[in-house]
Amino acid sequence: MSCDKTFKCSVADKRLRIVMGYKIGDLIASGKTKLVYALDTPSLVLLRFKDDVTALDGRRRDTIAGKGALNAAISAKLFQVLREGGVENHFVEMLDESSMVVERLSMLPLEVVCRNVATGSIVKRLPIQEGVVFDPPIVEFFLKDDARGDPMLSEAHIVALKLASRGEVDEMIRAILKANEVLKDFLSKRGLTLIDFKLEFGRKEGKLMVGDELDPDCMRIRDSETGRILDKDLYRKGASLEEVKSAYEEVYRRIVER
Ligand code: C5P
Repeated sequence: MSCDKTFKCSVADKRLRIVMGYKIGDLIASGKTKLVYALDTPSLVLLRFKDDVTALDGRRRDTIAGKGALNAAISAKLFQVLREGGVENHFVEMLDESSMVVERLSMLPLEVVCRNVATGSIVKRLPIQEGVVFDPPIVEFFLKDDARGDPMLSEAHIVALKLASRGEVDEMIRAILKANEVLKDFLSKRGLTLIDFKLEFGRKEGKLMVGDELDPDCMRIRDSETGRILDKDLYRKGASLEEVKSAYEEVYRRIVER
């Protein structure tokens, strides 16, 4: 993963450490919930999941001890599920409980969202009732730009801004729809309903693949029987940090431990 403009590059951590055969180098980038370190293999980087939780484009922030490890484990499992389902992504292996080795990608400054059920920003933007089922699912693109409030982009915007080609837009749509099918199936067998989720893509030697993370910070998941919210919506809606952690632990139990 390269240093995109939503990450602040830093040269603060110059120590070189060796873990499991990898030499961990400089801190390349520091995001809201993750740190990116160089590794001695230039084609790989280390992604460390922080215990921070944020909302409102980073204007609200808290720390939940253990959240980084939960999200790292959930992401690792779901990236493996995606790979088995034919959706290529950057996951290589776990290094410790909150750190994973991933392919170094040149990230596109885009958030690609797939929606199965209407909630969140779409019901604020459009005259659509909360809870309406989208069949087929809806795919949306947003520019990663906190200062502009992450505006929604059309394919024409993406091409005009030279963020991706038309072919790449089609490829991202196909990949997220495939990911949606794979994840919906995997989660439903665990009593979980996938409402919506966000992916980020990057290029490796010109080829697109899924990067970033895949956990309750960037998906909406509900208990299929009770409708209990099991994702970051709890934090967005002002639930206690204990409630947020307990929901993430429930997702971990059903996705990783099972
Ligand atoms: O807020 P909105 O309804 O557009 O979010 C759609 C999906 O994308 C949700 O699963 C949310 O968690 C995710 N998302 C994200 N990062 C953002 C915005 C949305 O992971 N910056």
